[in-house]
Amino acid sequence: MNEYFKEKNFYIETYGCQMNFYDTEIVVSIMNKMGFNYTNNIQYANVILINTCSIRQNAEDLIIKRLNTIKNIIHSDTIVGIIGCMAERLKHKLLNENELITFVVGPDSYEELPEVLFKAFNKIKSCNVTLSRTQTYDNIIPTSINKNIYSYISIMRGCDNMCTFCVVPFTRGRERSKNPVSIFKEIDVLLSKNIKKIILIGQNVDSYKWKKNNDVVDFSCLLDQIAKKFPELIITFTTSHPKDMTEDVIYTISNNKNILKYIHLPIQSGSNKILNLMKRKYDTETFLQKIHFIRQIIPNCSISTDIMTGFCGETEKDHSETLNIMEKIKFNFAYMFKYSNREGTYASKKMQDNLSDSEKNNRLQEIIELQKKHTLLRSSQFIGKYCNILINGRSKKSNKDFVGFNEQNYKVIFPKKDNLYPGKYVNVLIQSYSHNTLIGKISDEKR
Ligand code: 5AD
Ligand code: SF4
Repeated sequence: MNEYFKEKNFYIETYGCQMNFYDTEIVVSIMNKMGFNYTNNIQYANVILINTCSIRQNAEDLIIKRLNTIKNIIHSDTIVGIIGCMAERLKHKLLNENELITFVVGPDSYEELPEVLFKAFNKIKSCNVTLSRTQTYDNIIPTSINKNIYSYISIMRGCDNMCTFCVVPFTRGRERSKNPVSIFKEIDVLLSKNIKKIILIGQNVDSYKWKKNNDVVDFSCLLDQIAKKFPELIITFTTSHPKDMTEDVIYTISNNKNILKYIHLPIQSGSNKILNLMKRKYDTETFLQKIHFIRQIIPNCSISTDIMTGFCGETEKDHSETLNIMEKIKFNFAYMFKYSNREGTYASKKMQDNLSDSEKNNRLQEIIELQKKHTLLRSSQFIGKYCNILINGRSKKSNKDFVGFNEQNYKVIFPKKDNLYPGKYVNVLIQSYSHNTLIGKISDEKR
């Protein structure tokens, strides 16, 4: 055994979406099994892992910049490995162009880390980036490095949608679903660790499908089974695709008290021409119908979205159609981006990224401004209401305050009181708000 194995500390940094944060927990389990201890001090680590994101160019730029900083603060014999989406997208290029990096491991290859590390400690570089049609990490229970009362569970991986702008199908491969039995097992372990809320995640959760003999478990069925089997747990999920989210899913949310009244439904654009160019496979009319149906069945449902501006061929008219549909829907919250050309995607190969950066920025700014108004309007509607809050922990800003979540998945801040701790429920009267965070006080009165 190599002398470096005497000291086994690893540090991990995570960028990007919830799936990456979940994968980090899978990697922590694998590293622990190999006898490596997690340290949150980069200088104590003899292995550094960077779990990367490729969704937009600025995500990759940020990571490259971070690698340059890391180079100056670590010992020369520390091993640095790149894992996640950038590993998959750039493969050998990362190894060849950055001397700091000893290995590159893609999202479906984490079980190969023991072999990769053995090589790395023997000064052999490696690149493991084969995408799998079956890997769901069924046999690995994730290990959290954060103290939260909630946890992610990946129920499916990959994406078959091939939206023309998106790199995800290339970095995370084809869709595959996790066996429900493994999901239930994972939940049992989380319950034993005092987890009170689970977030079911997948690139497209509505595509969840598990077949056994003649039985098919689809997403609404899985969601319903989890809600009924674990009535003490709070359940939510992301991300839904507007073309795939069924009425059954919406009824399942409505029928189960322990499923949060919250849906993230990315619209991307308010122009049918652009939605078509993006190959989103829905139009604005069906999107609006879906929103209408959600609000009819679950009147207090909060709805968030993703909006992308400046896609290839987007005109001022297309942009104003996006503003118009935002005005019609008034989302509770939105994640907003400007289009970033990703090499290898259909849009990158066949379409022209014809808008200047300043045009994209101007449109993005307008979208952000409009959404801000809607976010504030939606937050203001909670004033004077009593919310049942699941306490998550101490507020980041003040140790005199707790932070928790309400039934619509809003973050709620309120002053602490004795005999309360994370995982407990408390009744809070909402008195003010800041953007999409609600602020209140504990109250004995009921709604
Ligand atoms: N450029 C900008 N935003 C993108 N997204 C996905 N691909 C790109 C891209 N190439 C956004 C979409 C998606 C969210 C996760 O990221 O809005 O819903
Ligand atoms: Fe990307 Fe579209 Fe799949 Fe979402 S649904 S991950 S945007 S390809």
